Amino acid sequence: MNILKVTSSILLLLFFFSFSYLATSTELCKNSVCSSNSPGIRFPFWIQSRQLESCGYPGFGLSCNNATQKILLNLPYSGQFIVQGINYTTQQIWINDPNNCLPKQLFSLNLSGSPFKGVHQQEFSFFNCSSGFLKDQLTPIICLSDSNHTIFATSSRRVFDVLLLSTCKFITNVSVPVQWPFDEQILSSDLNDDLLLTWDEPSGCGKCESRGGQCGFKTNSSHEIVCSNVPHKSGFPRSARYAIVIGVGVPGSLCLLGLLCFLFGKVESYNARRRIEIPEFNPTIAPPPKIMVGLDGPTIESYPKIVLGESWCLPKPNDNTCPICLSEYQAKETLKSIPKCQHCFHIECIDEWLSLNATCPICRNSSQ
Ligand SMILES: *[C@@H]1O[C@H](CO)[C@@H](O)[C@H](O)[C@H]1NC(C)=O
Ligand SMILES: *[C@@H]1O[C@H](CO)[C@@H](O)[C@H](O)[C@H]1NC(C)=O
Ligand SMILES: *[C@@H]1O[C@H](CO)[C@@H](O)[C@H](O)[C@H]1NC(C)=O
Ligand SMILES: *[C@@H]1O[C@H](CO)[C@@H](O)[C@H](O)[C@H]1NC(C)=O
Ligand SMILES: *[C@@H]1O[C@H](CO)[C@@H](O)[C@H](O)[C@H]1NC(C)=O
Ligand SMILES: *[C@@H]1O[C@H](CO)[C@@H](O)[C@H](O)[C@H]1NC(C)=O
Ligand SMILES: *[C@@H]1O[C@H](CO)[C@@H](O)[C@H](O)[C@H]1NC(C)=O
Repeated sequence: MNILKVTSSILLLLFFFSFSYLATSTELCKNSVCSSNSPGIRFPFWIQSRQLESCGYPGFGLSCNNATQKILLNLPYSGQFIVQGINYTTQQIWINDPNNCLPKQLFSLNLSGSPFKGVHQQEFSFFNCSSGFLKDQLTPIICLSDSNHTIFATSSRRVFDVLLLSTCKFITNVSVPVQWPFDEQILSSDLNDDLLLTWDEPSGCGKCESRGGQCGFKTNSSHEIVCSNVPHKSGFPRSARYAIVIGVGVPGSLCLLGLLCFLFGKVESYNARRRIEIPEFNPTIAPPPKIMVGLDGPTIESYPKIVLGESWCLPKPNDNTCPICLSEYQAKETLKSIPKCQHCFHIECIDEWLSLNATCPICRNSSQ
């Protein structure tokens, strides 16, 4: 039978849907950490020794330093950096030097070959001066200086010009991905603050995170990215949603199927009933039955008019809607009532009605 075929294929589809949903979700890739006080790692990042490669996006592999318990990022041309923080929503990562001398690593910083780029890129000029030079004006880079030489980094044009004419030696210019652009008032910096990087690819994960979802590959063999487990507006916790998929979804769809079958059976008789019921629900639209004959003009004219406020005519005190046009009566509006049953209506509404029907539209009593 046709209905049976349709039923079984819908059932199969529903089962397939519920279970493929579980298998393709990002549940397999839990958050990972190197230690309890290091930031949690999730897609697009992954920790190489602790997670499947399919839990992360290419270029976003991190590692744990087993001695210090810090999370490390390896940049192809610049070596290792400590991950100080990640904002998955804004797609930003803060990094620093594991050896506490970031300026030294800046000399060789090159982001090519990595998915990252600076947010605020600012150029600094490095100088090698004899110790004590301008020591009250400029901030030295201690970790690069020794007892005979002091190293300065400046992005101020004015300081650059002064140092260039001094006994200091110009070392190099470095473009630094700073967290905030330095203004001209800051004469020099020790450049030990974290670097701020961002990424464009994979895009869309920031948006997913901001909606409370989990970004990840659709399956561990595809590179199609999906945003799953976005909380519904009703705010069900994730575990509850699984319970609903299994507990309500499958029995629910069975009920739905049953209902569908029932409805299929009822469609014919429903349609038949509908054809009859419409005129009763829409007395103003339906053509009046031919056998009904309306009242003549003088009779309609003779019916009493009432100014609203003399509430005796309304069947219920709160019933302030004309039953014919369904719009509310206004204050002080003049209505017309049918003497026999004392039901009230707009004058235009009841006049038109009575010209076609001799009965009250509410109680169907003869209006004469
Ligand atoms: C850290 O330890 C894990 C095993 O616990 C090991 O697989 C990994 O290679 C180690 N990492 C380093 C950088 O030694
Ligand atoms: C990420 O940045 C946004 C916008 O600045 C901020 O609202 C949010 O709290 C940050 N998230 C974390 C985990 O710091
Ligand atoms: C970064 O490294 C790449 C590959 O070695 C090289 O082509 C590029 O010129 C380097 N960029 C800078 C600014 O040194
Ligand atoms: C500064 O100059 C001295 C002398 O030329 C040199 O020995 C030292 O390595 C230089 N320091 C840096 C950080 O370049
Ligand atoms: C600083 O200079 C003195 C005298 O020229 C020298 O003996 C000493 O080794 C130098 N110190 C460093 C760290 O180069
Ligand atoms: C270094 O930067 C300064 C100004 O920021 C510029 O005038 C100078 O030409 C640059 N030097 C080199 C070698 O790029
Ligand atoms: C995908 O995940 C399954 C386990 O869920 C694993 O058996 C399989 O090796 C993974 N495939 C790849 C390419 O990582």
